Amino acid sequence: MDREELIVSNLDWWNERAPLHVASAFYHVDDLINGASALDEFEERELVSHGGESLLHLQCHIGTDTISWARRGFDVTGLDFSEVAIREAAQLGSQCGVTVKWITSDLYQAPQTLGRTFDVVYTGKGALVWLDDIKLWADVVNQLLKPGGRLYLVEFHPVSEVLGEKGWSIEYDYFSDGEAIIEDQTMGSYADRDVTTRANRTATWQHTLGDIISALTGAGLSIKWLHEYPHTHFERTDALFFDPERRTYQVPPGTPRLPLLFS
Ligand SMILES: C[S@@+](CC[C@H](N)C(=O)[O-])C[C@H]1O[C@@H](n2cnc3c(N)ncnc32)[C@H](O)[C@@H]1O
Repeated sequence: MDREELIVSNLDWWNERAPLHVASAFYHVDDLINGASALDEFEERELVSHGGESLLHLQCHIGTDTISWARRGFDVTGLDFSEVAIREAAQLGSQCGVTVKWITSDLYQAPQTLGRTFDVVYTGKGALVWLDDIKLWADVVNQLLKPGGRLYLVEFHPVSEVLGEKGWSIEYDYFSDGEAIIEDQTMGSYADRDVTTRANRTATWQHTLGDIISALTGAGLSIKWLHEYPHTHFERTDALFFDPERRTYQVPPGTPRLPLLFS
């Protein structure tokens, strides 16, 4: 399959999942409507609004994080290539009484589509694996930032991709040859494993932490800090236990830890 066909498969996959995700328990949409934040506690600590700064959320999905940033004082634009996700996000935004500009666009076309720059570019958990060209992504981010602007990137740690689904074992390669990982049976999703779906082919790409950091510095950004966290937001492996209070998955006490998120 060529790249365009893979991207169309991914778009079909996301278009079908967006309404399912709004309805899923995973996204806690009712809590969001009632004023709760969808962001991790460390995100709210690490990215502070200086009041009215413009923030672009790339790959914003159904807008839960996007809406949460708007509530924290940013002037927010959410962008995603799934028109269904953007429609759901816009509806959720109005249910939350929050003003966000919602834009449907492929990420690589974002500078042309938007025709403007931002104080902050944010990208959240589960975004980068859907992109085949991490250097082009970094270049896009650089084009979208005002001079002196900030990228705030939060992602599942690439090291966690080596873990198998069962137990605490290394089953997948950390390094990548750049080829797409194509899965034809990705029924349901991380938000609802049991739901029946029609579009089940995904193409993802593994980017190491070195690939991501080097792409950013190569595009002209400088890195101020890098934080790593031992918790995550979905059941990456059944060895993790769920902490209902923090709504995160953690390594069981006594098990040697790996980084599961980074920012
Ligand atoms: C896992 S979601 C991001 C999740 C977000 N952090 C959240 O939990 O709501 C990944 C998003 O990337 C979007 N996406 C994938 N490929 C894209 C592309 N080439 N351009 C723009 N958006 C893309 C999908 O439509 C999906 O909404």
